[in-house]
Amino acid sequence: MLIFNRQAALSAHLESIPEPKTVGFVPTMGALHAGHISLLSESLKHNTLTVISIFVNPTQFNNADDLAKYPRTFESDIEKIRSLDPGIIVFAPTVDDIYDGNTVSTPFDFDGLEHQMEGKFRPGHFDGVGTIVKRLFEIVRPKNAYFGEKDFQQLQIVRKLVSKYRIPVNVVGCPIHREKNGLAMSSRNERLSPGERDEAGFIYQTLKQAKTTFANQSIENVKAEVGEAFSKHPGFELEYFEIADESTLETITEKTPGKTYRAFIAVFVNKIRLIDTIVLN
Ligand code: PAJ
Repeated sequence: MLIFNRQAALSAHLESIPEPKTVGFVPTMGALHAGHISLLSESLKHNTLTVISIFVNPTQFNNADDLAKYPRTFESDIEKIRSLDPGIIVFAPTVDDIYDGNTVSTPFDFDGLEHQMEGKFRPGHFDGVGTIVKRLFEIVRPKNAYFGEKDFQQLQIVRKLVSKYRIPVNVVGCPIHREKNGLAMSSRNERLSPGERDEAGFIYQTLKQAKTTFANQSIENVKAEVGEAFSKHPGFELEYFEIADESTLETITEKTPGKTYRAFIAVFVNKIRLIDTIVLN
């Protein structure tokens, strides 16, 4: 299996492969789980070549502890990729190869998408995401790039990035993979105790209940019900629960007919931060 640590070597290799080819790209920060694998499977189905990047991008972490504790499981990641398809090309650069001694992000204007939810609670996060995704797109030059709906705000921001900068990449959104109890799969789940991981299933149950309530009750009632659900799980701290327009991500307090809405949630368990989302209508 081909593993590249340097962008120059990866670019040279990709250029040496004769046309016709379609490159599918799955950017990740590693600690791969079935959610990541589903993005790879989607890419394998629709492209002649699939590239995955594994890079824990320092500039998108607004919390040093979160960056330090982010799980790094390179060897087992490689085994998972190999058992799916050894033809997948891995790009695992060093921080220096990407940032060349200047590990900072570029400021972006994503037309307001970056100021909502995750943007409010993780200052600078989307500048870091924009910086790395743009750089990776320039290196890999994929035709298609696969992103999970679990990070729905990130998905919309990447769509905005390619349209604003006229980057010729087709951004494909993929459904959320969940554990048996409904908990959205996440690399951070590895840091939960077995008990916490089990109990965390209530987050998705709460989102599903919110969807039911949203159908015929006010947003205020939906929010009150979510608050009540959390009062039964004292170890779980609700950072935010918002209902937002799916395309602008503007949060709402009242519904307007004809729009598609989504609920977004962020939760702390023992300093570990989990997010999830569900479409409401
Ligand atoms: P990471 O959290 O590793 O996620 C990589 C991709 O996997 C993202 O597109 C994410 O939405 C998707 N993903 C994560 N959990 C998923 C799940 N349960 N079901 C389906 N897809 C899931 O997101 C990042 O890395 C980074 O911000 C990155 C885009 C790589 C930039 O550094």
